[in-house]
Amino acid sequence: MDGIDTPRTQANLVLLGPPGAGKGTQARMLEEKFGLVQLSTGDLLRAAVKAGTEAGLQAKAVMEAGDLVSDEIVIAILRDRLAEPDCANGVILDGFPRTTVQAEALDGLMEDMGADIRVAISLEVDDAAMVTRISGRFTCAGCGEGYHDTFKTPAVDGTCDKCGGTEMTRRADDNAETVESRLRAYHAQTAPLIDYYDGKGVLARVDAMRDIDAVAQALTAVVREAVA
Ligand code: AP5
Repeated sequence: MDGIDTPRTQANLVLLGPPGAGKGTQARMLEEKFGLVQLSTGDLLRAAVKAGTEAGLQAKAVMEAGDLVSDEIVIAILRDRLAEPDCANGVILDGFPRTTVQAEALDGLMEDMGADIRVAISLEVDDAAMVTRISGRFTCAGCGEGYHDTFKTPAVDGTCDKCGGTEMTRRADDNAETVESRLRAYHAQTAPLIDYYDGKGVLARVDAMRDIDAVAQALTAVVREAVA
């Protein structure tokens, strides 16, 4: 069995990919395997919406429409989270950056921390399959573990494999119409970051159309090499 492969120095990773590519699923796997912290701006924004903060109130309608929340709000949320002590070994950025402005802000934050982005991994998928992945997704309300009606079901129906919780939730933006908007936003504003990181010499591409375990194996190999 694989143990935790903690990097020797701070290692920060970026996961790029359209909605449904598997960023959250794979980030949780990498978190356990490499002792890094998953930082999902989607999760941070959903928590802000739930808590009713000023940022959450501004983000709610934008998220429900499948558009991108303003760079200003997202960068501020990310900056605060990165400053917390548990991020010291490094983080897996899931859903950030999503625009060139965010990528440049991240470079500045990394420089201030004396750190860098070790690898940016593009999860490559066909858009057509993403609606099926997203419309079948559900999540444990207790620990956030993600599942799918077909592709990843809990061992015991209705019970989380990780924490034993029995309350499962589905996201408000996981409907076919919003997924179309999210895919459009990805191609217009986020896909250009693949070239951005390629230009910096830190891009890796992974075929994410394979099953979850095969993608996990490919990603583990990329990350192991990057953090060695
Ligand atoms: P966010 O929460 O980041 O959502 P997303 O990018 O749309 O990505 P998803 O969480 O939908 O997909 P995923 O790639 O994580 O897939 P998952 O692993 O769950 O953002 C939501 C919203 O917040 C945005 O629309 C925007 O409004 C706002 N936002 C967030 N960050 C922002 C930012 N930086 N700037 C501006 N706005 C921001 O997998 C999906 C399903 O498929 C699961 O059920 C899973 O079990 C299954 N699955 C996974 N991999 C496979 C596989 N290989 N084969 C079969 N099934 C699979």
